[in-house]
Amino acid sequence: MRPKAVLIGMPGSGKTRIGGDVATLLDVEFRDSDIDIEDREGMKIPRIFEERGEAEFRRIEADVIIEALHGFDGVLSLGGGAPMTVRTRDELKRYIDAGGTVVYLDADPNEAIARASRSGNRPLLADGAAKKWRRLYAERHDIYVDLANLIAHTKGKTPMQAAQQIADTV
Ligand code: S3P
Repeated sequence: MRPKAVLIGMPGSGKTRIGGDVATLLDVEFRDSDIDIEDREGMKIPRIFEERGEAEFRRIEADVIIEALHGFDGVLSLGGGAPMTVRTRDELKRYIDAGGTVVYLDADPNEAIARASRSGNRPLLADGAAKKWRRLYAERHDIYVDLANLIAHTKGKTPMQAAQQIADTV
């Protein structure tokens, strides 16, 4: 059993919204690694960062994602930093080799920053969201592109239009 599609991309790129729409179109379940982590740990992500630190968050995140890659057959969205963890990235490569689809949602930076700034649940973007977002984007964009076997440019598309394109491909 493996997910129909795994969505990666920056905070605010629409992974949760578009992933949910892809799942609806394919008539399968939707999961989001951030929500799975919060459910498992019984606390919100900013508190996990605060009390346990980012390294421990990444360890939990990798465990949650690896479990979903092997035991879930819906659509899965990942937290923006997940593919930066080597253990997670290697498992995503294996998932692709086995026939899976990793979709990079490449969003317009200004739109993504505006969306990401609206939520207070993103500790890495607290204080100076736009600057931090751009720094993380510079670090991550090439890694997302190298990993993904489908790139969806979302600029100018509604979430449903972007979702339809993905659903038609997987
Ligand atoms: C993170 C993104 C968040 C969440 C955590 C760390 C990141 O998910 O996993 O705050 O490193 O970019 P979203 O991409 O859903 O905001």
